[in-house]
Amino acid sequence: MSHIESPDSITLIRPDDWHLHLRDGAAMASVLPHSARQFARAIVMPNLKPPVTTTALASAYRDRILAALPASMQFEPLMTLYLTDNTDPDEIRRAKDTGFIHAVKLYPAGATTNSAAGVTDLRKCYKTLEVMQEVDMPLLVHGEVTDHDIDLFDREAVFIERVMRPLRRDFPELKIVFEHITTRDAAQYVAEAEGPIAATITAHHLLHNRNAIFKGGINPHYYCLPVLKREEHRLALVTAATSGDERFFLGTDSAPHAVHTKEASCGCAGCYTALHAMELYAAAFDEAGALDKLEAFASLNGPNFYDLPVNTGTITLKRETWTVPPTVPMGEQELVPLHGGEQIGWKML
Ligand code: DOR
Ligand code: ZN
Repeated sequence: MSHIESPDSITLIRPDDWHLHLRDGAAMASVLPHSARQFARAIVMPNLKPPVTTTALASAYRDRILAALPASMQFEPLMTLYLTDNTDPDEIRRAKDTGFIHAVKLYPAGATTNSAAGVTDLRKCYKTLEVMQEVDMPLLVHGEVTDHDIDLFDREAVFIERVMRPLRRDFPELKIVFEHITTRDAAQYVAEAEGPIAATITAHHLLHNRNAIFKGGINPHYYCLPVLKREEHRLALVTAATSGDERFFLGTDSAPHAVHTKEASCGCAGCYTALHAMELYAAAFDEAGALDKLEAFASLNGPNFYDLPVNTGTITLKRETWTVPPTVPMGEQELVPLHGGEQIGWKML
């Protein structure tokens, strides 16, 4: 049980991040300690170049992550495979046997960063999905259609009708995480659906609506995919996250991009929140008057869904104003964290 010592301090079971981009090489070595300070474990996204499509690639990537982890830190990377039109069903069995691959990620081809090798038509994956359902391997879904005639802001809602409903009809026992949901439609769909489905919610989608991208000019550090939505959708996400419903849990989708690739004529999608994720979530839950619901969302519901033990140990967050650094190193380059250079009202001790 979380302990709210006063309105200004809260202690919770050590949380996990159920959706994280760590990248690779020197960039990964720079960002990894941020996540390891905040979280005991993270589901590590496979959208590297080239993507992590096999057990062998996931194993090698895991070794690189563990080698880059400072000796003083404890952190368990929970690995994933990148689903393609050609993923061999036997690859799923091999992945399951490792014990360290916990899910398979569906990127619709062209939906986001490094998704070119993603799935063009889910029907091509049905044999693989059958094995996933059989061996209890969760499917993590980037839930956006990519049709050029569908408005960017409608891509998630249309995905529910065109892809998610048929998928769940055909694989009713397949565990599915609807990743980084951004709409009232998705929150409602997950809350009301029958069977093993859950959703992750980012801190930035709880804190901001789409005005943030355009306030006073173009603000590339608020550009992510799925893109921020209207205020009514933000409010629905806050309601879902703070409801206590165990289907909703924390996934930062922290996505490091070097500053010059964000502040560009065609900037990359992604918000960097690994540095201060729990502080941002605490601010969102506090604003909703629901700090008592943060522990379930951050530390209990995820392990419950993934059939993993709840962490031991705790973290403490204090109401304290501090300034987020304007930039942090990313390999040889720098990145701008969300709210870089601004003050935020919660601090992790
Ligand atoms: O904003 C995003 N950035 N959304 C994604 O789906 C991918 C991510 C990235 O890898 O940069
Ligand atoms: Zn992501």
